[in-house]
Amino acid sequence: MKMKRGIIMNPGMIPAVVSLILIFAGSALQAQQEASLTVNADLGEKQISRHIYGHFSEHLGRCIYGGYWVGEDSEIPNTRGIRTDVVEALKKTAIPNLRWPGGCFADEYHWRDGVGPQENRPTMINTHWGGVTEDNSFGTHEFLDLCNQLETEPVVVGNVGSGTPEELSKWVEYINFDGVSPMANMRRENGREDPWNVVYWGIGNENWGCGGHMSPEYYAELYKRFATYARNYGDTRLRKIAGGANTTDYNWTEVLMKNIPHWMMWGLSLHHYTTWWENKGPATGFEEDRYFDVLRRCIEIEDVIDRHITIMDKYDPAKRVALVVDEWGTWYNVEPGTNPGFLFQQNTMRDAFVAGISLNYFNEKSDRIKMANIAQTVNVLQALVFTDEEKMLLTPTYHVFEMYKVHHDATLLPVDLVSGSYEFEGKKLPSLSASASLDAQGRIHISLVNIHPDEDSEMTIDLRGMEVSKVNGRILTSGDVGDHNTFSDPEKVKPEEFTDMKLKKSILTATIPAGSVVVLELF
Ligand code: AHR
Repeated sequence: MKMKRGIIMNPGMIPAVVSLILIFAGSALQAQQEASLTVNADLGEKQISRHIYGHFSEHLGRCIYGGYWVGEDSEIPNTRGIRTDVVEALKKTAIPNLRWPGGCFADEYHWRDGVGPQENRPTMINTHWGGVTEDNSFGTHEFLDLCNQLETEPVVVGNVGSGTPEELSKWVEYINFDGVSPMANMRRENGREDPWNVVYWGIGNENWGCGGHMSPEYYAELYKRFATYARNYGDTRLRKIAGGANTTDYNWTEVLMKNIPHWMMWGLSLHHYTTWWENKGPATGFEEDRYFDVLRRCIEIEDVIDRHITIMDKYDPAKRVALVVDEWGTWYNVEPGTNPGFLFQQNTMRDAFVAGISLNYFNEKSDRIKMANIAQTVNVLQALVFTDEEKMLLTPTYHVFEMYKVHHDATLLPVDLVSGSYEFEGKKLPSLSASASLDAQGRIHISLVNIHPDEDSEMTIDLRGMEVSKVNGRILTSGDVGDHNTFSDPEKVKPEEFTDMKLKKSILTATIPAGSVVVLELF
Protein backbone atom coordinates (compact mmCIF):
# COMPACT_ATOMS: atom_id res chain seq x y z
CA MET A 1 0.00 0.00 0.00
CA LYS A 2 1.20 3.50 -0.76
CA MET A 3 2.16 5.54 2.23
CA LYS A 4 0.35 8.76 2.83
CA ARG A 5 1.48 12.18 1.63
CA GLY A 6 3.39 10.68 -1.29
CA ILE A 7 6.31 9.42 0.83
CA ILE A 8 7.26 6.25 -1.00
CA MET A 9 10.61 5.37 0.51
CA ASN A 10 12.15 5.18 3.90
CA PRO A 11 13.78 8.60 4.48
CA GLY A 12 16.41 6.94 6.64
CA MET A 13 17.80 5.27 3.52
CA ILE A 14 18.61 8.51 1.71
CA PRO A 15 20.34 11.70 2.73
CA ALA A 16 18.22 13.90 4.99
CA VAL A 17 18.12 16.86 2.62
CA VAL A 18 16.82 14.79 -0.27
CA SER A 19 14.16 13.21 1.89
CA LEU A 20 12.99 16.60 3.08
CA ILE A 21 12.61 17.72 -0.53
CA LEU A 22 10.64 14.56 -1.32
CA ILE A 23 8.36 15.07 1.65
CA PHE A 24 7.75 18.66 0.65
CA ALA A 25 7.05 17.69 -2.97
CA GLY A 26 4.75 14.90 -1.78
CA SER A 27 2.75 17.29 0.39
CA ALA A 28 2.43 19.81 -2.41
CA LEU A 29 1.12 17.12 -4.76
CA GLN A 30 -1.26 15.63 -2.22
CA ALA A 31 -4.57 14.95 -3.96
CA GLN A 32 -7.69 16.42 -2.41
CA GLN A 33 -11.37 15.64 -2.46
CA GLU A 34 -14.21 18.11 -2.01
CA ALA A 35 -16.76 17.37 0.71
CA SER A 36 -19.52 19.14 2.56
CA LEU A 37 -21.36 18.64 5.81
CA THR A 38 -24.50 20.38 7.02
CA VAL A 39 -25.05 20.14 10.77
CA ASN A 40 -28.64 20.92 11.76
CA ALA A 41 -27.90 22.39 15.15
CA ASP A 42 -31.54 23.27 15.90
CA LEU A 43 -33.05 19.89 14.98
CA GLY A 44 -31.66 17.61 17.68
CA GLU A 45 -34.21 15.27 19.30
CA LYS A 46 -32.61 11.96 20.20
CA GLN A 47 -30.14 11.40 22.99
CA ILE A 48 -26.96 9.40 22.36
CA SER A 49 -26.75 6.98 25.28
CA ARG A 50 -23.29 6.96 26.81
CA HIS A 51 -23.73 3.17 27.00
CA ILE A 52 -23.04 3.00 23.25
CA TYR A 53 -19.42 3.57 24.35
CA GLY A 54 -19.46 0.46 26.54
CA HIS A 55 -16.98 -2.38 26.90
CA PHE A 56 -16.76 -6.14 27.05
CA SER A 57 -14.18 -8.07 29.08
CA GLU A 58 -14.15 -11.85 29.28
CA HIS A 59 -12.13 -14.50 31.08
CA LEU A 60 -10.13 -14.94 27.91
CA GLY A 61 -6.38 -14.85 27.40
CA ARG A 62 -4.80 -11.92 29.24
CA CYS A 63 -7.90 -9.74 29.45
CA ILE A 64 -8.81 -10.35 33.11
CA TYR A 65 -5.65 -12.02 34.39
CA GLY A 66 -2.68 -9.74 33.72
CA GLY A 67 -4.96 -7.17 32.08
CA TYR A 68 -6.96 -5.98 35.06
CA TRP A 69 -6.09 -8.43 37.80
CA VAL A 70 -2.60 -8.92 39.19
CA GLY A 71 -3.49 -9.84 42.77
CA GLU A 72 -2.78 -7.88 45.93
CA ASP A 73 0.74 -9.31 46.34
CA SER A 74 1.89 -8.12 42.92
CA GLU A 75 4.68 -5.54 42.59
CA ILE A 76 2.62 -3.91 39.85
CA PRO A 77 0.77 -1.00 41.51
CA ASN A 78 -2.76 -2.14 42.33
CA THR A 79 -5.75 -1.49 44.53
CA ARG A 80 -7.03 -4.71 46.09
CA GLY A 81 -5.42 -6.67 43.21
CA ILE A 82 -6.68 -4.46 40.36
CA ARG A 83 -4.06 -2.64 38.25
CA THR A 84 -4.00 1.10 38.90
CA ASP A 85 -2.61 2.06 35.47
CA VAL A 86 -5.40 0.32 33.55
CA VAL A 87 -8.10 1.78 35.79
CA GLU A 88 -6.68 5.30 35.42
CA ALA A 89 -6.41 4.98 31.63
CA LEU A 90 -9.98 3.71 31.19
CA LYS A 91 -11.39 6.36 33.51
CA LYS A 92 -10.03 8.98 31.11
CA THR A 93 -12.39 7.61 28.46
CA ALA A 94 -15.32 7.91 30.92
CA ILE A 95 -16.00 4.19 30.40
CA PRO A 96 -19.78 3.91 30.89
CA ASN A 97 -20.24 0.16 31.38
CA LEU A 98 -18.38 -3.15 31.46
CA ARG A 99 -19.89 -6.48 30.35
CA TRP A 100 -18.57 -9.63 32.09
CA PRO A 101 -17.75 -12.61 32.53
CA GLY A 102 -18.28 -13.52 28.85
CA GLY A 103 -18.82 -14.22 26.01
CA CYS A 104 -18.74 -17.95 25.59
CA PHE A 105 -17.20 -18.21 29.06
CA ALA A 106 -20.45 -16.93 30.64
CA ASP A 107 -22.42 -20.06 29.74
CA GLU A 108 -19.90 -22.28 31.50
CA TYR A 109 -19.36 -20.04 34.49
CA HIS A 110 -20.79 -20.94 37.89
CA TRP A 111 -20.70 -17.82 40.02
CA ARG A 112 -20.50 -19.62 43.39
CA ASP A 113 -17.03 -20.88 42.37
CA GLY A 114 -15.85 -17.26 42.34
CA VAL A 115 -16.93 -16.05 45.80
CA GLY A 116 -15.60 -16.66 49.30
CA PRO A 117 -12.00 -17.06 50.47
CA GLN A 118 -9.65 -17.27 47.47
CA GLU A 119 -7.92 -20.38 48.78
CA ASN A 120 -11.23 -22.29 48.88
CA ARG A 121 -12.31 -21.44 45.36
CA PRO A 122 -12.38 -24.45 43.02
CA THR A 123 -10.60 -24.34 39.68
CA MET A 124 -12.17 -25.05 36.29
CA ILE A 125 -10.96 -25.50 32.73
CA ASN A 126 -11.57 -22.58 30.41
CA THR A 127 -12.54 -24.88 27.55
CA HIS A 128 -13.33 -22.11 25.09
CA TRP A 129 -10.17 -20.11 25.48
CA GLY A 130 -6.94 -22.06 25.37
CA GLY A 131 -7.95 -24.87 27.75
CA VAL A 132 -6.18 -23.06 30.60
CA THR A 133 -6.98 -23.58 34.26
CA GLU A 134 -9.17 -20.82 35.67
CA ASP A 135 -8.54 -20.45 39.40
CA ASN A 136 -11.57 -18.23 39.99
CA SER A 137 -9.50 -15.67 41.87
CA PHE A 138 -11.36 -12.96 39.96
CA GLY A 139 -15.05 -13.39 40.74
CA THR A 140 -18.15 -11.37 41.59
CA HIS A 141 -16.62 -9.24 44.36
CA GLU A 142 -13.49 -8.49 42.33
CA PHE A 143 -15.49 -7.58 39.22
CA LEU A 144 -17.81 -5.26 41.10
CA ASP A 145 -14.82 -3.69 42.86
CA LEU A 146 -13.27 -3.11 39.41
CA CYS A 147 -16.50 -1.42 38.23
CA ASN A 148 -16.49 0.69 41.35
CA GLN A 149 -12.88 1.77 40.77
CA LEU A 150 -13.70 2.54 37.12
CA GLU A 151 -16.87 4.39 38.15
CA THR A 152 -18.69 2.35 35.53
CA GLU A 153 -21.93 0.35 35.40
CA PRO A 154 -21.61 -3.43 35.49
CA VAL A 155 -23.34 -5.63 32.92
CA VAL A 156 -23.44 -9.18 34.30
CA VAL A 157 -24.12 -12.05 31.91
CA GLY A 158 -25.85 -15.10 33.40
CA ASN A 159 -25.32 -18.74 32.49
CA VAL A 160 -28.22 -20.12 30.45
CA GLY A 161 -26.29 -22.74 28.43
CA SER A 162 -25.15 -24.95 31.32
CA GLY A 163 -26.81 -23.23 34.28
CA THR A 164 -30.29 -23.18 35.76
CA PRO A 165 -32.89 -20.48 36.44
CA GLU A 166 -32.23 -21.10 40.14
CA GLU A 167 -28.51 -20.38 39.80
CA LEU A 168 -29.17 -17.08 38.02
CA SER A 169 -31.94 -16.18 40.44
CA LYS A 170 -29.60 -16.72 43.39
CA TRP A 171 -26.85 -14.64 41.76
CA VAL A 172 -29.25 -11.70 41.45
CA GLU A 173 -30.27 -12.20 45.09
CA TYR A 174 -26.60 -12.37 46.16
CA ILE A 175 -25.73 -9.15 44.34
CA ASN A 176 -28.89 -7.08 44.84
CA PHE A 177 -30.87 -8.12 47.94
CA ASP A 178 -30.60 -5.83 50.95
CA GLY A 179 -32.61 -7.86 53.50
CA VAL A 180 -32.02 -11.10 55.33
CA SER A 181 -31.81 -14.11 53.00
CA PRO A 182 -29.45 -17.02 52.44
CA MET A 183 -27.69 -15.32 49.51
CA ALA A 184 -27.54 -11.84 51.05
CA ASN A 185 -26.18 -13.37 54.25
CA MET A 186 -23.54 -15.27 52.28
CA ARG A 187 -22.51 -11.99 50.62
CA ARG A 188 -22.10 -10.41 54.05
CA GLU A 189 -20.03 -13.36 55.27
CA ASN A 190 -17.84 -12.81 52.21
CA GLY A 191 -17.18 -9.25 53.28
CA ARG A 192 -19.76 -7.10 51.53
CA GLU A 193 -22.54 -5.59 53.61
CA ASP A 194 -24.47 -3.54 51.06
CA PRO A 195 -25.99 -4.84 47.84
CA TRP A 196 -24.41 -3.59 44.62
CA ASN A 197 -27.75 -2.96 42.87
CA VAL A 198 -26.66 -4.15 39.43
CA VAL A 199 -29.20 -3.09 36.82
CA TYR A 200 -27.99 -4.67 33.54
CA TRP A 201 -28.21 -8.47 33.22
CA GLY A 202 -27.54 -10.52 30.10
CA ILE A 203 -29.61 -13.70 29.95
CA GLY A 204 -27.05 -15.97 28.28
CA ASN A 205 -24.69 -15.31 25.40
CA GLU A 206 -24.69 -16.54 21.79
CA ASN A 207 -27.19 -19.25 22.66
CA TRP A 208 -27.34 -20.10 18.95
CA GLY A 209 -23.68 -21.23 19.26
CA CYS A 210 -21.27 -21.57 22.18
CA GLY A 211 -24.16 -20.82 24.58
CA GLY A 212 -25.98 -24.07 23.86
CA HIS A 213 -26.56 -24.42 20.07
CA MET A 214 -30.26 -23.68 20.55
CA SER A 215 -32.97 -22.81 18.07
CA PRO A 216 -34.45 -19.31 18.51
CA GLU A 217 -37.81 -20.84 19.47
CA TYR A 218 -36.23 -22.91 22.24
CA TYR A 219 -34.10 -20.01 23.50
CA ALA A 220 -37.15 -17.70 23.59
CA GLU A 221 -38.90 -20.17 25.93
CA LEU A 222 -35.81 -20.51 28.11
CA TYR A 223 -35.38 -16.74 28.20
CA LYS A 224 -38.84 -16.36 29.71
CA ARG A 225 -38.05 -18.93 32.43
CA PHE A 226 -34.66 -17.47 33.34
CA ALA A 227 -35.87 -13.86 33.17
CA THR A 228 -38.92 -14.58 35.35
CA TYR A 229 -36.80 -15.67 38.30
CA ALA A 230 -34.23 -12.88 37.95
CA ARG A 231 -36.09 -10.65 40.41
CA ASN A 232 -36.15 -6.96 41.17
CA TYR A 233 -35.10 -6.16 44.74
CA GLY A 234 -35.69 -2.80 46.41
CA ASP A 235 -35.66 0.02 43.91
CA THR A 236 -33.40 -1.77 41.48
CA ARG A 237 -35.40 -2.50 38.31
CA LEU A 238 -33.43 -5.00 36.24
CA ARG A 239 -32.74 -4.28 32.60
CA LYS A 240 -32.59 -7.76 31.09
CA ILE A 241 -30.90 -8.34 27.76
CA ALA A 242 -31.89 -11.31 25.60
CA GLY A 243 -29.06 -13.16 23.85
CA GLY A 244 -29.31 -11.97 20.27
CA ALA A 245 -28.43 -12.92 16.75
CA ASN A 246 -25.14 -13.53 15.06
CA THR A 247 -24.52 -10.95 12.33
CA THR A 248 -27.03 -11.76 9.54
CA ASP A 249 -29.29 -14.23 11.38
CA TYR A 250 -32.41 -12.12 10.92
CA ASN A 251 -34.69 -15.04 11.78
CA TRP A 252 -33.26 -15.10 15.34
CA THR A 253 -34.28 -11.46 15.84
CA GLU A 254 -37.71 -12.10 14.29
CA VAL A 255 -38.48 -15.10 16.52
CA LEU A 256 -37.35 -13.38 19.72
CA MET A 257 -39.26 -10.18 19.00
CA LYS A 258 -42.37 -12.24 18.24
CA ASN A 259 -42.20 -14.69 21.15
CA ILE A 260 -40.81 -12.77 24.11
CA PRO A 261 -43.19 -10.23 25.69
CA HIS A 262 -41.51 -6.86 25.33
CA TRP A 263 -42.02 -5.91 28.97
CA MET A 264 -39.75 -8.86 29.88
CA MET A 265 -36.82 -7.67 27.79
CA TRP A 266 -35.09 -4.28 28.13
CA GLY A 267 -32.76 -5.13 25.29
CA LEU A 268 -32.05 -7.62 22.54
CA SER A 269 -28.43 -8.19 21.71
CA LEU A 270 -26.57 -8.55 18.41
CA HIS A 271 -22.97 -9.59 17.75
CA HIS A 272 -21.14 -8.37 14.70
CA TYR A 273 -17.39 -8.69 14.19
CA THR A 274 -15.45 -7.18 11.30
CA THR A 275 -13.77 -10.38 10.15
CA TRP A 276 -13.53 -13.24 7.69
CA TRP A 277 -14.02 -16.49 9.55
CA GLU A 278 -11.86 -18.49 7.11
CA ASN A 279 -8.72 -16.37 6.86
CA LYS A 280 -8.79 -13.36 9.11
CA GLY A 281 -5.57 -11.77 7.84
CA PRO A 282 -2.88 -10.06 9.88
CA ALA A 283 -3.48 -7.14 12.25
CA THR A 284 -0.37 -5.34 10.94
CA GLY A 285 1.67 -5.36 7.75
CA PHE A 286 -1.46 -5.66 5.60
CA GLU A 287 -1.71 -4.77 1.92
CA GLU A 288 -4.28 -2.37 0.49
CA ASP A 289 -6.72 -5.16 -0.47
CA ARG A 290 -7.06 -6.10 3.24
CA TYR A 291 -7.21 -2.48 4.30
CA PHE A 292 -10.04 -1.79 1.89
CA ASP A 293 -11.90 -4.99 2.73
CA VAL A 294 -11.81 -4.49 6.50
CA LEU A 295 -13.31 -1.03 6.05
CA ARG A 296 -15.86 -2.37 3.58
CA ARG A 297 -16.92 -4.98 6.13
CA CYS A 298 -17.06 -2.35 8.84
CA ILE A 299 -19.33 -0.14 6.73
CA GLU A 300 -21.48 -3.18 5.88
CA ILE A 301 -22.46 -3.44 9.56
CA GLU A 302 -24.78 -0.52 8.82
CA ASP A 303 -26.92 -2.53 6.36
CA VAL A 304 -26.91 -5.58 8.63
CA ILE A 305 -27.98 -3.61 11.70
CA ASP A 306 -30.54 -1.65 9.68
CA ARG A 307 -32.22 -4.94 8.73
CA HIS A 308 -32.35 -6.08 12.36
CA ILE A 309 -33.80 -2.69 13.28
CA THR A 310 -36.46 -2.99 10.58
CA ILE A 311 -37.55 -6.32 12.10
CA MET A 312 -37.60 -4.80 15.59
CA ASP A 313 -39.62 -1.83 14.28
CA LYS A 314 -42.23 -4.23 12.89
CA TYR A 315 -42.90 -5.71 16.35
CA ASP A 316 -41.99 -2.68 18.45
CA PRO A 317 -42.71 0.55 16.54
CA ALA A 318 -42.46 2.58 19.77
CA LYS A 319 -38.82 1.41 20.10
CA ARG A 320 -39.26 0.17 23.65
CA VAL A 321 -36.79 -2.68 23.29
CA ALA A 322 -33.19 -1.54 22.94
CA LEU A 323 -30.84 -3.02 20.38
CA VAL A 324 -27.67 -3.89 22.30
CA VAL A 325 -24.63 -4.51 20.08
CA ASP A 326 -22.80 -6.15 22.95
CA GLU A 327 -19.89 -7.53 20.94
CA TRP A 328 -18.36 -5.69 18.01
CA GLY A 329 -14.93 -4.89 16.59
CA THR A 330 -12.15 -6.29 14.43
CA TRP A 331 -10.97 -9.88 14.62
CA TYR A 332 -7.68 -10.82 12.91
CA ASN A 333 -5.18 -13.65 13.13
CA VAL A 334 -3.46 -13.75 16.51
CA GLU A 335 0.03 -12.26 16.73
CA PRO A 336 2.64 -14.83 15.64
CA GLY A 337 3.94 -16.90 18.53
CA THR A 338 1.00 -16.17 20.84
CA ASN A 339 -1.57 -18.69 22.10
CA PRO A 340 -4.28 -19.01 19.39
CA GLY A 341 -6.89 -19.33 22.16
CA PHE A 342 -5.92 -15.95 23.63
CA LEU A 343 -7.01 -13.80 20.65
CA PHE A 344 -4.25 -11.24 21.05
CA GLN A 345 -3.93 -8.92 18.05
CA GLN A 346 -2.19 -5.59 17.37
CA ASN A 347 -4.22 -2.45 16.76
CA THR A 348 -3.43 0.07 14.01
CA MET A 349 -4.89 3.23 12.55
CA ARG A 350 -7.14 0.90 10.52
CA ASP A 351 -8.75 -0.17 13.82
CA ALA A 352 -9.14 3.46 14.83
CA PHE A 353 -11.13 4.02 11.62
CA VAL A 354 -13.33 0.98 12.33
CA ALA A 355 -14.00 2.35 15.81
CA GLY A 356 -14.73 5.88 14.57
CA ILE A 357 -17.05 4.75 11.77
CA SER A 358 -18.92 2.26 13.98
CA LEU A 359 -19.41 4.78 16.79
CA ASN A 360 -20.61 7.43 14.32
CA TYR A 361 -23.14 4.92 13.02
CA PHE A 362 -24.29 3.84 16.52
CA ASN A 363 -24.82 7.53 17.34
CA GLU A 364 -27.03 7.91 14.27
CA LYS A 365 -29.18 4.95 15.39
CA SER A 366 -29.40 6.02 19.01
CA ASP A 367 -33.19 5.88 19.08
CA ARG A 368 -32.83 2.07 18.86
CA ILE A 369 -29.23 1.31 19.84
CA LYS A 370 -28.96 2.05 23.56
CA MET A 371 -25.87 0.05 24.37
CA ALA A 372 -22.83 -1.37 22.57
CA ASN A 373 -19.73 -3.09 23.89
CA ILE A 374 -16.43 -3.26 22.06
CA ALA A 375 -14.68 -6.63 22.22
CA GLN A 376 -12.54 -6.60 24.26
CA THR A 377 -11.06 -3.86 26.44
CA VAL A 378 -7.61 -5.21 27.39
CA ASN A 379 -5.21 -7.51 25.48
CA VAL A 380 -7.94 -9.28 23.46
CA LEU A 381 -9.28 -8.57 19.92
CA GLN A 382 -9.83 -4.83 19.29
CA ALA A 383 -8.36 -3.79 22.63
CA LEU A 384 -7.96 -0.27 23.96
CA VAL A 385 -5.13 -1.17 26.29
CA PHE A 386 -2.22 -3.62 26.11
CA THR A 387 -0.24 -4.74 29.13
CA ASP A 388 3.06 -6.56 29.36
CA GLU A 389 3.95 -7.30 32.96
CA GLU A 390 4.33 -3.83 34.56
CA LYS A 391 4.09 -1.95 31.22
CA MET A 392 0.90 -0.59 29.66
CA LEU A 393 0.18 1.14 26.36
CA LEU A 394 -2.81 2.77 24.73
CA THR A 395 -3.89 1.70 21.24
CA PRO A 396 -5.27 3.89 18.43
CA THR A 397 -8.74 2.51 19.32
CA TYR A 398 -8.30 3.83 22.87
CA HIS A 399 -7.65 7.30 21.51
CA VAL A 400 -10.86 7.23 19.46
CA PHE A 401 -12.90 6.30 22.55
CA GLU A 402 -11.22 9.06 24.53
CA MET A 403 -11.78 11.66 21.78
CA TYR A 404 -15.42 10.59 21.23
CA LYS A 405 -16.43 10.77 24.91
CA VAL A 406 -17.82 14.25 24.13
CA HIS A 407 -20.81 12.48 22.53
CA HIS A 408 -21.81 10.69 25.78
CA ASP A 409 -25.45 11.48 26.60
CA ALA A 410 -25.40 14.44 24.19
CA THR A 411 -28.23 15.27 21.79
CA LEU A 412 -27.71 13.83 18.34
CA LEU A 413 -27.72 16.48 15.62
CA PRO A 414 -28.94 15.38 12.19
CA VAL A 415 -26.22 15.81 9.54
CA ASP A 416 -26.12 15.76 5.78
CA LEU A 417 -22.75 14.55 4.49
CA VAL A 418 -21.56 14.71 0.89
CA SER A 419 -18.31 12.79 0.63
CA GLY A 420 -15.84 11.82 -2.08
CA SER A 421 -15.01 8.15 -2.64
CA TYR A 422 -12.17 5.84 -1.83
CA GLU A 423 -11.86 3.51 -4.80
CA PHE A 424 -9.88 0.29 -4.94
CA GLU A 425 -9.92 -2.18 -7.84
CA GLY A 426 -13.23 -0.84 -9.14
CA LYS A 427 -15.01 -0.90 -5.75
CA LYS A 428 -15.95 2.26 -3.91
CA LEU A 429 -16.47 3.33 -0.30
CA PRO A 430 -17.33 6.80 0.98
CA SER A 431 -14.09 8.42 2.14
CA LEU A 432 -15.77 10.12 5.07
CA SER A 433 -17.99 9.26 7.99
CA ALA A 434 -19.42 11.93 10.31
CA SER A 435 -21.59 12.42 13.38
CA ALA A 436 -22.52 15.51 15.41
CA SER A 437 -24.03 16.20 18.82
CA LEU A 438 -24.89 19.03 21.18
CA ASP A 439 -23.84 18.69 24.80
CA ALA A 440 -25.45 20.03 27.98
CA GLN A 441 -23.14 23.09 27.91
CA GLY A 442 -24.35 24.05 24.42
CA ARG A 443 -21.17 22.93 22.62
CA ILE A 444 -21.35 21.15 19.28
CA HIS A 445 -19.02 18.21 18.64
CA ILE A 446 -18.40 16.76 15.22
CA SER A 447 -16.52 13.49 14.76
CA LEU A 448 -15.09 12.78 11.32
CA VAL A 449 -13.19 9.83 9.86
CA ASN A 450 -11.31 9.99 6.55
CA ILE A 451 -10.37 6.44 5.50
CA HIS A 452 -8.78 7.45 2.19
CA PRO A 453 -5.13 6.49 2.58
CA ASP A 454 -3.84 9.17 0.18
CA GLU A 455 -6.37 11.93 -0.33
CA ASP A 456 -7.35 14.72 2.07
CA SER A 457 -10.92 16.00 2.14
CA GLU A 458 -11.40 19.73 1.79
CA MET A 459 -14.58 20.18 3.81
CA THR A 460 -17.09 22.94 4.04
CA ILE A 461 -19.14 22.56 7.21
CA ASP A 462 -22.34 24.57 7.49
CA LEU A 463 -23.50 24.93 11.11
CA ARG A 464 -27.13 25.59 10.36
CA GLY A 465 -29.34 26.82 13.19
CA MET A 466 -26.75 28.02 15.70
CA GLU A 467 -24.29 30.87 16.01
CA VAL A 468 -20.76 29.81 16.87
CA SER A 469 -17.63 31.88 17.22
CA LYS A 470 -14.95 29.47 18.41
CA VAL A 471 -13.62 26.15 17.21
CA ASN A 472 -11.13 23.67 18.68
CA GLY A 473 -10.03 20.41 17.21
CA ARG A 474 -8.12 17.19 17.90
CA ILE A 475 -6.74 14.77 15.35
CA LEU A 476 -5.50 11.18 15.37
CA THR A 477 -3.34 10.45 12.35
CA SER A 478 0.02 8.93 11.52
CA GLY A 479 2.37 8.43 8.58
CA ASP A 480 0.75 5.18 7.48
CA VAL A 481 -2.65 3.59 8.01
CA GLY A 482 -0.84 0.53 9.39
CA ASP A 483 0.92 2.51 12.12
CA HIS A 484 0.50 1.29 15.68
CA ASN A 485 1.93 1.62 19.17
CA THR A 486 4.43 -0.84 20.59
CA PHE A 487 6.16 -1.13 23.95
CA SER A 488 9.33 0.23 22.33
CA ASP A 489 7.41 3.12 20.69
CA PRO A 490 4.23 3.52 22.80
CA GLU A 491 3.32 7.01 21.60
CA LYS A 492 3.80 6.70 17.87
CA VAL A 493 0.05 7.19 17.42
CA LYS A 494 -1.59 9.70 19.72
CA PRO A 495 -4.00 12.64 19.37
CA GLU A 496 -2.68 16.10 18.56
CA GLU A 497 -4.25 19.51 18.34
CA PHE A 498 -5.97 20.10 14.97
CA THR A 499 -5.66 23.59 13.54
CA ASP A 500 -6.11 23.24 9.78
CA MET A 501 -9.46 25.08 9.67
CA LYS A 502 -11.10 28.49 9.40
CA LEU A 503 -14.39 29.65 10.88
CA LYS A 504 -16.32 32.45 9.19
CA LYS A 505 -19.76 33.12 10.65
CA SER A 506 -21.39 29.70 10.70
CA ILE A 507 -19.26 28.22 7.91
CA LEU A 508 -16.19 26.21 8.85
CA THR A 509 -13.68 25.09 6.25
CA ALA A 510 -11.30 22.35 7.29
CA THR A 511 -8.86 20.00 5.61
CA ILE A 512 -9.45 16.50 6.97
CA PRO A 513 -6.20 14.68 6.22
CA ALA A 514 -6.04 11.32 4.50
CA GLY A 515 -6.15 8.54 7.08
CA SER A 516 -7.37 10.48 10.10
CA VAL A 517 -9.96 10.77 12.85
CA VAL A 518 -10.86 14.36 13.76
CA VAL A 519 -13.12 15.68 16.53
CA LEU A 520 -14.16 19.33 16.41
CA GLU A 521 -15.71 21.40 19.16
CA LEU A 522 -17.70 24.55 18.35
CA PHE A 523 -19.32 27.04 20.69
O1 AHR B 1 -15.16 -12.13 22.02
C1 AHR B 1 -14.78 -13.45 21.79
C2 AHR B 1 -15.98 -14.36 21.61
O2 AHR B 1 -16.69 -13.99 20.46
C3 AHR B 1 -17.03 -14.32 22.70
O3 AHR B 1 -16.70 -15.12 23.77
C4 AHR B 1 -18.24 -14.85 22.00
O4 AHR B 1 -19.44 -14.36 22.54
C5 AHR B 1 -18.03 -14.45 20.55
O5 AHR B 1 -18.20 -15.49 19.68
